[in-house]
Amino acid sequence: MLQDKLGRQFHYLRLSITDVCNFKCTYCLPDGYQCDTSREFLSLDEIRRLVAGFAKLGTSKIRITGGEPALRKDLADIIAVCKTTPGIKQVALTTNGFNLEKQINHWVDAGLDALNVSIDSLQPEAFKLITGHDKLVSILNGLEKAKALGLNSIKINSVLMRQYNASQFNDYLSWIKQHAYTLRFIELMQTGDNLQFFNKNHVSGESLKQQLVEQGWSSVIRDKAAGPAQEFYHPDYAGKIGLIMPYSKDFCASCNRLRVSSLGQLHLCLFTEQGIDLRAFLQSDQQQQALIEKLQTSLAEKTPSHLLQQGKTGITQHLAMIGG
Ligand code: 5AD
Ligand code: SF4
Repeated sequence: MLQDKLGRQFHYLRLSITDVCNFKCTYCLPDGYQCDTSREFLSLDEIRRLVAGFAKLGTSKIRITGGEPALRKDLADIIAVCKTTPGIKQVALTTNGFNLEKQINHWVDAGLDALNVSIDSLQPEAFKLITGHDKLVSILNGLEKAKALGLNSIKINSVLMRQYNASQFNDYLSWIKQHAYTLRFIELMQTGDNLQFFNKNHVSGESLKQQLVEQGWSSVIRDKAAGPAQEFYHPDYAGKIGLIMPYSKDFCASCNRLRVSSLGQLHLCLFTEQGIDLRAFLQSDQQQQALIEKLQTSLAEKTPSHLLQQGKTGITQHLAMIGG
């Protein structure tokens, strides 16, 4: 069991498999991916050993992230390796959706249980302005295909930004009136690279919450093991809404996840000051016990909360580094 000194339990691992991304989201990689760091990402064998070690300590859910994880040719193999690890019950994927329409059947065949897709506008032009890619229509087709293939946990992530899409809040609401997706508004976070952008575009999650409550949305009672998202439902809507409000009080109290970067660094928090190298423990199956001990001792260093409210973003230059 992975538990920290505050009693928080970690059943959920967010595993980044590449930090390369082909999109240029304004808040993340406005100038696109810069090839200035190592691209020797964890191999399939290293991933298998890593996931097996976490699973021995009670991890039951893996989310595969990036960068853009679907840029890896072996993504379906990675999904299958995670899914067939004893103890892993759920394998989820976060993608920008660029090849969703073409690839989703392979991912579902490999055992994918849940899908998160970023959609920062439902207007094709605005989508292109934010991401640099004219992909909205294909992504929406991909979502329909995912549903038709029987995937029933589909979430849409959207970051509302004052100068871009904050005025499109109602577009999203009309959309989920008919579509049974969970729509998650992620409050824009400051990272090492985006301070100016953040200051101009941050929209508080609390203001969104107020709008929802005024329009008759109610809070879903939270499960004890649920993560930091606050969920809302409305009798007239097929979809649900989740608010991820990292600047809200007590956000970190419900933290239930750990992160590993595509180079095998354990990040105890999204905004940690340093990663902890696990790669040295992933070179042979015989190292499993050493890996388990490393994970257990590392957890003692997990801090109660990030210090984002004070503008402290740790080593996180942008979220493509570690997958949000
Ligand atoms: N603030 C909030 N969310 C972000 N994401 C990337 N960068 C940021 C940021 N600075 C989100 C993307 C995507 C997920 C992987 O992380 O919108 O949905
Ligand atoms: Fe956009 Fe995600 Fe790529 Fe960053 S990593 S540019 S948020 S698609």
